[in-house]
Amino acid sequence: MEAIILLGGPGAGKGTLADFLKKQTTYIHVSTGDMLRAAIQAGLAVGLEAKAFMEAGQLVPDSVILRIIEERISRDPAENRFMFDGFPRTIEQAEGLDLLFKKQGGTVKHVFNLVVEREILLKRLTSRRICKTCGAVYHVTNKPPKKEGVCDLDGGEVYQRADDSEATILKRLEVYEKQTAPLIAYYQKKGLIRDIAAGGLAAETDALVLKVLTA
Ligand code: AP5
Repeated sequence: MEAIILLGGPGAGKGTLADFLKKQTTYIHVSTGDMLRAAIQAGLAVGLEAKAFMEAGQLVPDSVILRIIEERISRDPAENRFMFDGFPRTIEQAEGLDLLFKKQGGTVKHVFNLVVEREILLKRLTSRRICKTCGAVYHVTNKPPKKEGVCDLDGGEVYQRADDSEATILKRLEVYEKQTAPLIAYYQKKGLIRDIAAGGLAAETDALVLKVLTA
């Protein structure tokens, strides 16, 4: 088992990059944010546990996250390759992943650190819209759906995420700096960090990452 990790602040473009890599590589996209939102929509216990944390812009407890990751990666055969989006998000989660991979024989190949200025993150997130049915990501000016409020792919309702209000975005940025940014040093020590300038066009970010993966 092998994994790459997409690391970056809220709005850095992890989901957008994952969408591209899903089509270009054999990595399986595992987004803890998407998994939690799906659990909330389905009314599952794990969703109920996570909902209040997410709406407040706080992190969901490490034990919950490590449990859903273990369940997810155990579902696929050992030869699979995973692309983690939004996981790990704390040192405890990174250590938990190391333990899990030690047990199951997995390795982390690269950690892509998407570097974007704070002002750009704020602008991107207040303008983001999502399809309620398939999760396709839009942007009110950079990437609007053809018909306002309607997903191009499946006609689903395009909405604004509950945690994309300005106050909650500021909280998420603060949480990122305190709890997630220390992962850069953690993975730097292991020689796995690949800094990617991700403040420009999505296609530029895509090309930089694909170049590393196909080198
Ligand atoms: P999660 O869903 O992971 O949110 P996030 O990390 O805050 O990241 P986002 O999804 O907001 O942004 P993104 O980097 O994917 O950007 P995107 O591609 O959409 O987590 C949500 C919550 O769940 C957390 O707050 C927490 O409570 C909980 N959670 C999840 N995982 C957890 C974990 N491991 N531990 C604990 N709690 C956890 O792009 C943003 C916008 O910008 C879009 O509109 C897009 O179109 C646009 N855009 C993207 N790239 C570009 C570009 N290059 N140029 C122009 N526009 C762009």
